Amino acid sequence: MLQSELAFQKCIAPDCGATFDVQEMHVACPRCHDLLDVQYDWNRLPVPDRLEYFERKWSRRHDPLCHSGVWRFHELLPFAPAEQIVTVGEGQTLLQQADGIAPYVGVQPGRLHLQYEGLNPSGSFKDNGMSAAFTHARSIGAKRAACASTGNTSASLAMYCAVTRLMKAVIFIGSGKIAYGKLSQALEYGALTVQIAGDFDDAMVRVQQVARDLGIYLVNSVNPFRLEGQKTIMYRVLESLRWQVPDWIVVPGGNLGNSSAFGKAFSELHCLGLIDRLPRLAVINACGADTLYQLHQVRGVRWRNGHGDMSGVAEHYERLTREHKKASTIASAIEINRPVNLRKCLRALDTCDGVVRQVSDQDILDAKAQVGAGGIGCEPASAASVAGARLLVREGVIDPEQRVVCVLTGHQLKDPTATVAYHSGDPQKFNEVLGSRGVQHASFANRAIAVPNELDQIIQAIESHS
Ligand code: F0G
Repeated sequence: MLQSELAFQKCIAPDCGATFDVQEMHVACPRCHDLLDVQYDWNRLPVPDRLEYFERKWSRRHDPLCHSGVWRFHELLPFAPAEQIVTVGEGQTLLQQADGIAPYVGVQPGRLHLQYEGLNPSGSFKDNGMSAAFTHARSIGAKRAACASTGNTSASLAMYCAVTRLMKAVIFIGSGKIAYGKLSQALEYGALTVQIAGDFDDAMVRVQQVARDLGIYLVNSVNPFRLEGQKTIMYRVLESLRWQVPDWIVVPGGNLGNSSAFGKAFSELHCLGLIDRLPRLAVINACGADTLYQLHQVRGVRWRNGHGDMSGVAEHYERLTREHKKASTIASAIEINRPVNLRKCLRALDTCDGVVRQVSDQDILDAKAQVGAGGIGCEPASAASVAGARLLVREGVIDPEQRVVCVLTGHQLKDPTATVAYHSGDPQKFNEVLGSRGVQHASFANRAIAVPNELDQIIQAIESHS
């Protein structure tokens, strides 16, 4: 049977519901401009009846498709045949029981888990989605791929292009808004890098126009195949918890691809009878980039089976334009005011009885220092999940007995500027990088001690600090 008969693209708007072949490339419904999903005819697909089936694939991990943390779950994202799959070994990530950080978050020992997506080959969760988008791009014969990025999508795209040589990368970044770790990846992997005079939201608009005009394959998360790959982050969380569903998934919210993908993952598993309950979802914005928070929590915008009143969304965006309001946060990865997956995220919040919170840059950096002190570490945006979980425990929304999984989306080394400024103890450096963001103190700073190049003084310094 043809793969395209079993998988198809479908508009998420219930009043439209238009369907398209998987061999077509759309980043929005051609009829009504809403977002598209990849959907499957599950009745005619060989879906395993128990999730343990996937775990057993580990014994065949010499096969790249069993080794990949994305394609081990191929039966749950069966939009392409095995021979078309592109993998570079993504998804070898880790769920760590974080007892060292549990007291900071306020939950009982054994109840906090950190999902380290920074362990992916390009250092962020993006590789999960990129391997899926690349698989689709290859199947339709694309030669060039583009994205707008706050840094990680571009690093991932550039890496997949460099490793596979299947396509050329064209990336759009805003000016002065990208962490050096990420920029250095895109440059070194050889991507054509276009830095536009604007921010991420501007770059996102432009890349869609350029991709359409030049016929370039777009890999931002408006591409529904990307999100199919990102579903697997949740499969691996479940796998690590021996298929027990946690009480909470807490994730930073930027362009809202992850939260959307997670909602779809759980909804599908539930419909397929592979899990018996859904976790709750918490999406955490930075205060300086809080569109989802404003819409969901403040204005009460809801999915309501696709019929929710979206007039508040248009009003919010009009206000941002009128007041020339730009997103601004130290967590540059989520410095986004116009999240492209907003409607899918509202759907996910509905599916998973979700909540949205915003956290300050101060809270983000303090949480990041705590995560780092617990080992492995993360970039600022990722720590929003931990800061958000802490806030929700303080509010009494998360119970200290509940099992909480915070997704750490990007590696600690992606953005060392903020980390060094936080720990430096140099007031000038601190103020330059962090002061303008409202960060006033480094509660968990680990300062380097300056000593003269004299053995006895070095020894004395070590003894007095240990
Ligand atoms: N965390 C990190 C480290 C990210 O790079 C991003 C998004 C997010 C969280 C937000 O995830 O968009 O699924 O809500 N980075 C994109 C990029 C926008 O271009 O790299 P989301």
